Amino acid sequence: MEKTVKLHDKTFRVMIPASEIDAAVKAVADRINADYAGLETPLFVGVLNGSFMFLSDLIKKIEFNSELSFVKLASYEGTESTGKVHSLIGLNKSIEGRHIIIVEDIVDTGASIEHMIEDLRRGNPADIEVCTLFFKPASYSRNYPIKYSALEIGNEFIVGYGLDYDQLGRNLKDIYVVTNE
Ligand code: IMP
Ligand code: MG
Repeated sequence: MEKTVKLHDKTFRVMIPASEIDAAVKAVADRINADYAGLETPLFVGVLNGSFMFLSDLIKKIEFNSELSFVKLASYEGTESTGKVHSLIGLNKSIEGRHIIIVEDIVDTGASIEHMIEDLRRGNPADIEVCTLFFKPASYSRNYPIKYSALEIGNEFIVGYGLDYDQLGRNLKDIYVVTNE
């Protein structure tokens, strides 16, 4: 019988085994190694919580000297009709002139990554690229190019390898997709 897990009210089944994730992480690390070789100490900026597992595996495959930092997106309810406003907490050092690689677990509509890029731009970095484990191109509605995406998926909801369903499922080593049961 197929392996499933139950998280809160939903049942999930394996969609991408750990071996395939590892191969995709290796492929994206190879591209970054080629593109950033010889550049002055790039800075990886992981977005918590979802990117912790991806970034820990990615950084082991990076062959140039680099720095690493994590940030968290804080959401506030706006006092006016603008809705949710995000800001970054965690970056306490100047990023002026730095080569920034934002590391995300998943880019869906692009709203979160857009806010991150706007915030980081205020620090005048040399350049900013996005590296995401998963990308949902059909859902993406922003203009900023997602240069490094390890795996592209449809609009299905997935968990595992750092990604959660209402905080559960981050510990799973494979990627699971929600079933209709
Ligand atoms: P965006 O702002 O619409 O791009 O959404 C990005 C955020 O939504 C991600 O960082 C995740 O926290 C969450 N998210 C989007 N799709 C999924 C999914 O399939 N599984 C788990 N979280 C997701
Ligand atoms: Mg996230």
